[in-house]
Amino acid sequence: MEIAEISSKVHNEARQGEVLAPAIQEEKLYRKKFMIESYGCAMNFADSEIVASILNKEGYGATKILEEADIVLLNTCSIREKAEQTIRKRLTEFKKAKLAKRSMLVGVLGCMAERLKGKLLEEEKLVDLVIGPDAYRTLPLLIEEAETGQKAVNVLLSRDETYADIAPVRLDSNGITAFVSIMRGCNNMCSFCVVPFTRGRERSRDAASIVHECTELFNQGYREVTLLGQNVDSYFWTALSNEPAADKLSEVTFAGLLEKVALISPLLRVRFSTSHPKDITDEVLFTMARYENICKYIHLPVQSGSTRVLQLMNRTYTREWYMAKVNRIREILPDCSISSDVIAGFCTETEEDHQDTLSILQFSGYDMSYMFFYSERPGTLAARRYLDDVPLDVKKRRLDEIVKLQNRLSMESNIRDIGRTFKVLIEGNSRKSESDWSGRSSQNKVVVFPKNDRPLTKGNYVTVKVKKVTGATLIGEITSVVEESI
Ligand code: SAH
Ligand code: SF4
Ligand code: F3S
Repeated sequence: MEIAEISSKVHNEARQGEVLAPAIQEEKLYRKKFMIESYGCAMNFADSEIVASILNKEGYGATKILEEADIVLLNTCSIREKAEQTIRKRLTEFKKAKLAKRSMLVGVLGCMAERLKGKLLEEEKLVDLVIGPDAYRTLPLLIEEAETGQKAVNVLLSRDETYADIAPVRLDSNGITAFVSIMRGCNNMCSFCVVPFTRGRERSRDAASIVHECTELFNQGYREVTLLGQNVDSYFWTALSNEPAADKLSEVTFAGLLEKVALISPLLRVRFSTSHPKDITDEVLFTMARYENICKYIHLPVQSGSTRVLQLMNRTYTREWYMAKVNRIREILPDCSISSDVIAGFCTETEEDHQDTLSILQFSGYDMSYMFFYSERPGTLAARRYLDDVPLDVKKRRLDEIVKLQNRLSMESNIRDIGRTFKVLIEGNSRKSESDWSGRSSQNKVVVFPKNDRPLTKGNYVTVKVKKVTGATLIGEITSVVEESI
């Protein structure tokens, strides 16, 4: 197994290509059709919704049917070699469609476009457009250019683009949960990571535009927003204050933003991802404790349990520092779940380092983790400075041990929930049966329970008592309906 995911609701990483199209679309309004497939993290999925909005304005409607599309877009990920291979394979599958419809344009968006730039055009002959994550506003112009038979490239990174004014077109939405991008880029230079190169400098989005977008979502019936950024805890926005007599600038930290969004309505749940352990503050933890509707769930990627490896990774914390952070979360938020990202077999990793990783998983008792073996990315600090010297079979064996341990920890965490009652936001039918609802607890665990002919609908809150569990799901029965939610 190369990538293991112990979660059914992937929010962070490694989503395979999904074709996205809006649930409802007035077909006749659009003169042309585009198809967009998204890979990688939630940021990319959120970006695809911005791209859809830009294209809608130009008269393009979304389709899921390749043959119908005038333009096919792949929103790509470069995080590991495997992610790029998947996309290259997918590109070759477009050859036939393009032969059948010569006017069809193929565009590569996102991180792979940014990493490879014009080289992609040489390597993948059928690609007509290459557009980096900060250049989506120029997409209509680039399409026009490509329609004349020229290849079109824009991979300029920006210091201030946040697409704050663009209302995303929700693609394939359940109408209840939505991603809201609050910042872009990353200033951390984790030595293994390609993101700072593909996404550019960190910049925060105007707080007022975020609150506005979340309020609109709530008014449309959405009941959960996930605030997205590579490192949400370093969110920082300075704005002119509207308060009378205040001539100072008002500053919004991440804790301040969380509070503003939580105050929209107690019926709107707030989640966020991702927190870098070095940046999550007590202020954020206390804000989470103060508001019932801020979900008690923190994704706190550890990457490795060995201080020596963490130093090589440039994570800027030690094993002990990370463990103290976990303790602090448990102290302030006793019912908070914690998940992690883990990399097996980073450069120079010894068996002892690997044991340190296993023991930190055990110490933290993660409810869930995303686990990977190290994949060298060209241009990163690690690729330039260190030898990728752990053999593949060793990486895979260590990853396997990590996965096995995490599976056990997830199961143990779920078993502890048997007999407990959780407030659940109903997101839709369970995947297995239309007579069951599926939703999530504040702790981000999937909860499935029978409908039992109650007049409920998605978007309602219920309390559910857990009767039994699997490794990834809690199964229970409704004990009450949260009246104000219906
Ligand atoms: N910004 C987030 C992570 C984004 S990338 C954070 O800092 O937490 C998601 C995860 O992919 C990382 O946490 C890491 O575990 C993994 N990852 C990143 N680069 C990788 C590489 N070169 N090889 C293997 N896994 C990698
Ligand atoms: Fe990559 Fe580190 Fe930035 Fe996360 S914080 S995106 S791992 S450089
Ligand atoms: Fe996300 Fe992949 Fe880019 S994880 S930021 S889409 S490299």
